Amino acid sequence: MNARTTRTLAAALSLTAALAISGCSSDAGGSGDSAGGKPKMTVSGGYMPEPVNDKMAGAFMVIKNDSKTADKLTGVTSPLSDDLQIHESKDQKMQQVHSMDVPANGELELARGGNHVMFMGLKNTPKVGDKVTVELHFEKADPVKVELDVKERTYNAQNSNGH
Ligand code: CU
Repeated sequence: MNARTTRTLAAALSLTAALAISGCSSDAGGSGDSAGGKPKMTVSGGYMPEPVNDKMAGAFMVIKNDSKTADKLTGVTSPLSDDLQIHESKDQKMQQVHSMDVPANGELELARGGNHVMFMGLKNTPKVGDKVTVELHFEKADPVKVELDVKERTYNAQNSNGH
């Protein structure tokens, strides 16, 4: 065996090792947590400001992770739209992201001016007092169904909490 073959073999072996490790860690969330496995999410304060038209709408809520396992919000679905996105706001601009962290024993806050769920194209235009159902999908936790209250356009959960 010459030096070059040895190096190639070593590279191949280390690649295999890396794959084995990453495969292992993605399994660990399901079975390795002695506290009972999957994280469980609770969602509070879900609302949608009344959409102006059927083009788009935002949704806000607080997602709480009471477990010792960090998770990620990976997607949102709803009967109201076939295209829901997760957006973050940076420098007053919003951009789509593919997942958002929900820290262990922590929460992910979706609020005006920050992270939010965005409906791109609505099948109808909900009015104040209506409910909109969404289903949140996570990397590890089971999906969670949430009923959003449709609120006035100026409604802001943070302001109302302040009083
Ligand atoms: Cu957005």
